[in-house]
Amino acid sequence: MGINTNISDYDWNAAFAALAWQVELGVTEVMSEAAVDRYALPEKQATLTPKPKTVEDQVQPAAPDPVNAAQAAAAPCADLTALRAALESFAHCELKKGARNLVFSAGNPGAPLMVVGEAPGREEDREGLPFVGHSGLLLDKMLAAIGHARDADDPRASAYLTNVLPWRPPGDRDPTEAEIAMMRPFLLRHIVLAKPQVIIAMGNVACQALLGQSGILRMRGQWGECAAIPVMPMTHPAYLLRNLGAKREAWADLLAVQAKLANPS
Ligand code: URA
Repeated sequence: MGINTNISDYDWNAAFAALAWQVELGVTEVMSEAAVDRYALPEKQATLTPKPKTVEDQVQPAAPDPVNAAQAAAAPCADLTALRAALESFAHCELKKGARNLVFSAGNPGAPLMVVGEAPGREEDREGLPFVGHSGLLLDKMLAAIGHARDADDPRASAYLTNVLPWRPPGDRDPTEAEIAMMRPFLLRHIVLAKPQVIIAMGNVACQALLGQSGILRMRGQWGECAAIPVMPMTHPAYLLRNLGAKREAWADLLAVQAKLANPS
């Protein structure tokens, strides 16, 4: 039980008597440091009594979900120029801070064949173009073997190249799941706008982004689908440079891509 009394209104003896009286009444605890005058006018009392905290006071405003933010930024882009601009102003990916350049794409955006890689490396970051290092040289040879080139004069023989991540991860580390999920809405919009006939997903990161699973050595050679476009999972050129024995299977996968382009059905 507790009773509020303003002690400053009393001299020592009166205060002692008031305290004794309260103890006799059964007061066992002090309710608050500041006295509350129950006879005060309501406006005055409102200033004395702390307002209870609302849920809004207690919950910090949530940071926007980066995947939703990416979705909101990518969805309205009507063409590739707008998509590139949306990526340039996207502020939720930390990789951007450490990268020299945005690496958006290379080749012919109207090409029937689109290649999706993982992320820029050192050379790509420096030049702002995908696949310009060692992997890129091998990729060009692979594409040439099935009659395609990123800069072919004949648009039907051209290729269009991009990556899941448009910024180089520090030290060329593997992209995280969160980074892949964050950039996926941009990649999907990129595909919808470029409208290729066939996509090659180069390596695990591209398979994760386009087909929702990784395990490239198991998945390679088997057609999947993304945005209603056939997707061929292939081992990444960087893997082929280290594992020469895997080139035989890569050649079979390239022939399957060539056949699909010739006969889309
Ligand atoms: N590896 C990739 O996946 N993409 C590039 O652009 C370069 C290397």
